[in-house]
Amino acid sequence: MDASVIVTKNYTDEEKAVEESVSRVQVEGLTPDQLAKVYDEWAETYDKELPPEVYYPEYVVEALSEVYTESNGQNRKDAKVLDVAAGTGRLGEALQKHGFRYIDALDPSEKMLEKLMTRGVYGKTWKDTVGIHKTEIEDDAYDAVIAAGAFLEGHIPVAAVHEIVRILRPGGFISIIVREDYLTNSEEIRKLEPLFEELENGKKIQKVFRRVVPKYYLNFNGVVYVYRIL
Ligand SMILES: C[S@@+](CC[C@H](N)C(=O)[O-])C[C@H]1O[C@@H](n2cnc3c(N)ncnc32)[C@H](O)[C@@H]1O
Repeated sequence: MDASVIVTKNYTDEEKAVEESVSRVQVEGLTPDQLAKVYDEWAETYDKELPPEVYYPEYVVEALSEVYTESNGQNRKDAKVLDVAAGTGRLGEALQKHGFRYIDALDPSEKMLEKLMTRGVYGKTWKDTVGIHKTEIEDDAYDAVIAAGAFLEGHIPVAAVHEIVRILRPGGFISIIVREDYLTNSEEIRKLEPLFEELENGKKIQKVFRRVVPKYYLNFNGVVYVYRIL
């Protein structure tokens, strides 16, 4: 998070409280292990502090559902989906509501994963990070990967897209969302669209859509990207 973005806005008391909650994971220089510990401590109250009217990651599930239609031969009932940076698992519940049945999760925070498993919608969990090392997940293991609240400073680095492409089968889909302002004000997230373009030029992925959506987090727009693996 670029600190100037916070201080130049006029926040309501409610918005300030939300920003205060979120600021605990936006401390510069945290190692991945330290960040996982901060999420461990946040796991219990995370969902209450970030209700859908404040934070709406479900956009990535809605986007994925759009490409899983009977008419294009994609069957969501059999699709193996990996929720990357799954946190407390609210996207798993949304996926289930949209008819997806095989849902795995990856997250480095043990307590977030414990919370996630209480929802009863996930199969396997991977306690790991992406973008920092090669995961144990096999090549072409999944039909779809979703990620929300994941590509931001100090969390998943943009280079993780290579790992996500590796674990997706040809014909599979990526559905991710980032805050629109991060595409210009975050040094890390600025690299995302150039990397997508490079992978498109190299015929590794094909854009399905890029969509700006309102109020992804507070009044910030999100950008949802759906790509197909070639
Ligand atoms: C803001 S939460 C988002 C959780 C969930 N996707 C949601 O939208 O509610 C960020 C999650 O990313 C996880 N995380 C942080 N760094 C990560 C990394 N390098 N790889 C995978 N997950 C990571 C954290 O443990 C945390 O659960």
